Amino acid sequence: MSTTETDHHQNDVVMAPSGDQQAREESTMEFAMKMFDIVKAGFVCMAMSVGSRAGLFEAMGRLEGPATCQEIADAAGMRVRYVREWVGAMATSGVIDVVDMEKETFFLPRHRIPVLLSHFRRSVTPFCQLADCFAQATGEVVKCFAKDGPTGVPYSAYSTLQDVMYLVRRSHHEDTLVDHFIPTITGLKEKLESGIHVIDLGCGRAAPSLILASRFPNSTFYGIDLDAKAMAAATKEAAAEDLTNTYFEAHDAAKLPADWSSKFDYVTAFDAIHDVAFPEDALQQVRRILKPGGLFSLVEIKGNSKISDNIGNPFGPVMYSTSLLHCVPVSMHFKGRGLGTIWGKQSVCTMLQEAGLRILGVMDVPEVPEECHYLCQK
Ligand SMILES: C[S@@+](CC[C@H](N)C(=O)[O-])C[C@H]1O[C@@H](n2cnc3c(N)ncnc32)[C@H](O)[C@@H]1O
Repeated sequence: MSTTETDHHQNDVVMAPSGDQQAREESTMEFAMKMFDIVKAGFVCMAMSVGSRAGLFEAMGRLEGPATCQEIADAAGMRVRYVREWVGAMATSGVIDVVDMEKETFFLPRHRIPVLLSHFRRSVTPFCQLADCFAQATGEVVKCFAKDGPTGVPYSAYSTLQDVMYLVRRSHHEDTLVDHFIPTITGLKEKLESGIHVIDLGCGRAAPSLILASRFPNSTFYGIDLDAKAMAAATKEAAAEDLTNTYFEAHDAAKLPADWSSKFDYVTAFDAIHDVAFPEDALQQVRRILKPGGLFSLVEIKGNSKISDNIGNPFGPVMYSTSLLHCVPVSMHFKGRGLGTIWGKQSVCTMLQEAGLRILGVMDVPEVPEECHYLCQK
């Protein structure tokens, strides 16, 4: 392409289709720069995941002052050649600061620590690890687009999923579940204190059940998930925490044991129903296993069912990408519904009503702006 042609394309103005209320002008170069910001963020996200998994943010957090790459590597007990390249990615993207240009020293300012060390509630690095986990399966996802390709991707393609989800959830629930979420349901705290039967469906490594079981020893907490390894990890964690009121078993939420009818006072499902291949069957099971008058907390990603109604939703890009890379393929692998993370309020309410569950309220989840709580009763 000649220089003249390149310049011409760079200055092209793409007009919005007529009738677009927000008619705007954008040159090809402006659009390319916007896209490059997305590419840059994707690369830095992967470098952050690597640093987080290797323990480099922790090592930098322990340093009391600015340090050279060699000093950072020594403090972390790692190879300087790799540390230097990671420091380069972090410093040029503004994650860490350069302090002395001559000596090349670097520092992680203290106020950034809660955003970068994975055990803090506001940390973003567990999400970097989640993107990294989904990236393992992109080749499999690409195959699913072909009409004669596989329908979906098995869970085995996402080897770190349960551990990363646990990392994302544990610190979140630790700070908010008992003090902020439970009080939004009138009378629930008192019932948990006196002793009720609770079950969490699609619980993964069971962060909520473990937290609630230690705070409410008179109640019993069941957790089920398709993933037997996650159930074994949850059982091990419960033993390590000396909990005697938890039961974790591998089951399909759409086919729960026959003798569980009317067994539970309170059923929860955190970000799980949209992954279940046959969600209508799972909601029928919720109705069956609840005692009459029992409560069901369905927590799902906040959003509308139509894509066009999610424009401007700040979580839309991450949530639809999560759907594409993981949630839809794992459900479609079983030739299921493939609801995706943003199946949206309208579809959620319809499916709950069709399952015979009465919706008592649709609420925000305290401290978790991307989620929505559908409180239901049998
Ligand atoms: C996005 S993860 C959420 C895990 C956990 N509730 C949390 O909030 O961290 C969805 C979970 O649903 C589980 N799952 C998917 N289909 C299921 C099914 N049919 N029955 C039980 N669990 C299922 C997955 O194994 C996974 O642990």
